[in-house]
Amino acid sequence: MLKAVILIGGPLKGTRFRPLSLDIPKPLFPVAGLPMIQHHIEACVAVPNLREILILGYYPASELTQFVAEMVQEYKINIRYLQEFMALGTAGGIYHFRDQIRLGSPEEFFILNGDVCADFPLVEMLEFHKQKGNKPLMTMLTTEATRQQSVHFGCIVQDKDSHEVTHYVEKPSTFVSTLINCGVYLCSPELFHTIASAFNARQQEFYTEGAGDGKEAIQLERDVLMPLAGTGRLFALQTARWWSQVKTAGAAIYANRHYLELYRSRRGERLARRGPGSCQVLGDVHIHPSASVHHTATLGPNVSIGSSASIGPGVRVRESIVLSGASIADHSLVLHSIVGRLSRVGRWARVEGTPCDPNPNKPFAKMDNRALFNRDGRLNPSITILGCSVTVPAEVILLNSIVLPYKELTRSFKNEIIL
Ligand code: GDD
Repeated sequence: MLKAVILIGGPLKGTRFRPLSLDIPKPLFPVAGLPMIQHHIEACVAVPNLREILILGYYPASELTQFVAEMVQEYKINIRYLQEFMALGTAGGIYHFRDQIRLGSPEEFFILNGDVCADFPLVEMLEFHKQKGNKPLMTMLTTEATRQQSVHFGCIVQDKDSHEVTHYVEKPSTFVSTLINCGVYLCSPELFHTIASAFNARQQEFYTEGAGDGKEAIQLERDVLMPLAGTGRLFALQTARWWSQVKTAGAAIYANRHYLELYRSRRGERLARRGPGSCQVLGDVHIHPSASVHHTATLGPNVSIGSSASIGPGVRVRESIVLSGASIADHSLVLHSIVGRLSRVGRWARVEGTPCDPNPNKPFAKMDNRALFNRDGRLNPSITILGCSVTVPAEVILLNSIVLPYKELTRSFKNEIIL
């Protein structure tokens, strides 16, 4: 049997996702109608013989309890949240909870970063890993990036024929390779020996030299992947399917589009269809069954409308996420934006961001990723975001701006952060 571990970090992480993470833990932010890590859970549940999913992080357990209970109910497999007593790093929690991971003797276990989104090729990873005869400790998923993008990720040099990772550098200061780490791994339980050595080395460093970022914290990338590269036991599987990080709200719009696209081929029932009395639907749109959308509104492409949201007559929404309980009044326009929970947009208002991908039709991960970045390789921040319970009055225009929660706007804004 197999298991999976999803790393979700904690309240100190995900700061670039503010203000959206101020009222909900970032891993639970809804993308295409589902909490972000529910997409990970769905990918795991689709792997035959995968029996348990462990969510590791340092959020207070109370913030995850309801979500976990709903997931167990929905997918009927064991799902647990294990809370780290402090930020233990990307491998520290895995080491701390090693007995829980090894319980039941899984043959392998996946590790998934909670802040990536993808069409996760988990079954392919499993087949690839099993084909490697000489007891691989780990297979990591990789994708192609541009030179500029690559330095913001883990960079991999591999043997072209065997796909063995010969060299690994985490976020190098100069160019190493365009093959990057996707933050999705398949591991053999023997990996715990390597993590234990890393843990002991950290302790040693801490007590003898007072060095390191805390004696308990271990980083998978620095302490495990780097030493494993070149040993013949670390392999890379490159994917051409879509993949991206979700560090910013702009990236959530991008992830929304791609998860909706996946629904089209795999979960058609989650997409809104045009029918008698329905609103005008263009392309991929998800509408929560409890949302109310006026039949003269036009939604899409790439729109998700959350539970109990209300969309008035003549409203136009495109490339946006409208969260639960939000309302958009008559004839308003919402483009390339995220409308926070319980926010209210008045009549004839305009809430607009700038497209983060000028060419949404390119299917290859490299091309799509590029659009997430500006020319200098930094993430494109130009969508408009309303935090929770924001009020936008009638006839106001809001362009490329971020509004913090509970703000009541009184006029139009452009390119501003409204505190
Ligand atoms: N449980 C737990 N505890 N999770 C953590 C902790 C921790 O102390 N620290 C980070 N995480 C989780 C984050 O929530 C995220 O899902 C994942 O681990 C990686 O987080 P970061 O440490 O922020 O790394 P990164 O995203 O900048 O880079 C990593 O992911 C890239 C792919 O998205 C690296 O693995 C890169 O090499 C990789 O390219």
